[in-house]
Amino acid sequence: MEQLVQLINNYKQEINSTEAATPDAVEAFRIKWLGTKGLVKTIMGEMKNVAAENKKEAGQLLNEFKLFVEQKHGSFTLGTSSIQEQAAGIDWSLPGDPTPVGTRHPLSMVRNKIVSIFQRLGFAVAEGPEIEDDWHNFGAMNLPEDHPARDMQDTFYISQDPAWLLRTHTSSVQARVMETQKPPIRVICPGRVYRNETISARAHCFFHQVEGLYIDENVSFADLKQTLYFFVQEMFGKDVKVRFRPSYFPFTEPSAEMDISCLICGGDGCNVCKHTGWVEILGSGMVHPKVLENFGIDSNKYTGFAFGMGVERICQLKYRVNDLRLYSQNDVRFLKQFTGIV
Ligand code: DAH
Repeated sequence: MEQLVQLINNYKQEINSTEAATPDAVEAFRIKWLGTKGLVKTIMGEMKNVAAENKKEAGQLLNEFKLFVEQKHGSFTLGTSSIQEQAAGIDWSLPGDPTPVGTRHPLSMVRNKIVSIFQRLGFAVAEGPEIEDDWHNFGAMNLPEDHPARDMQDTFYISQDPAWLLRTHTSSVQARVMETQKPPIRVICPGRVYRNETISARAHCFFHQVEGLYIDENVSFADLKQTLYFFVQEMFGKDVKVRFRPSYFPFTEPSAEMDISCLICGGDGCNVCKHTGWVEILGSGMVHPKVLENFGIDSNKYTGFAFGMGVERICQLKYRVNDLRLYSQNDVRFLKQFTGIV
């Protein structure tokens, strides 16, 4: 009995000072102590040499020892996850995989820039529906019944009810604003528009415009020019030249289109400016008195100017995007080139 107690104490000491930091060491511990030929089994075998009167005491001692060894082994394996992770080669100190963050669409960035330039001049943002009725898109804007822009080729009509259509320009928002607001009116209207065009590098069945409308007493063509000069300088820089050309729009009189010197070739001539050195960027004019009267605005008291520009065109000139289809294909190789711009 004494020898047995002594042996167990020695074993306990040895076990207490054992560390097993790797899966191999834990396994070695298990084989040495708990294996079929391990020391626990062996010492259990000593029972047969214990005198009969001590058997009960020895049995308790040995069982308690076996439990002790098993607990020790369990304490090694408790930390298994980290041991297994190490074995699986996981290194928690490595930096994580980066989460890819999206970027703003170039058209959104250009639209936001346009809007913010006009906001600084006191223009408020107004929006209208993309599904419009004939009156707001055409009639109210003084487009006569037989105007070619109403042609079925250009306009997407809602087949169930051709009184409804997809707006062909953001000028329809002018109508929406004049119907609900009294002068002075100073709004900028960004939005998507639709036209029945065959999709190509130069044309698309939908695109984006920004419309502007300013109505007050004594608004003149000089105000229109100054406002648009300011816009061009803010958008493209001070070196860009500007010119106005007389034009025709049913909703403005007089009307003008504005060109800027070609940013691609610097005015020398290239295929973007069709070798003229100039590119058109917007249509504009003094709001036609008939349009004002359509909304009960006294055209003797009030005058106004309006303009409309294409966002894709401005984006093309600013970032040299030469194919309209790129904007809606959502190819990340295209989109990610605009990361960090604006
Ligand atoms: N609505 C015209 C278009 O889509 C652009 C435009 C021209 C808007 C002259 C205007 C304007 O407000 O005054 O081509």
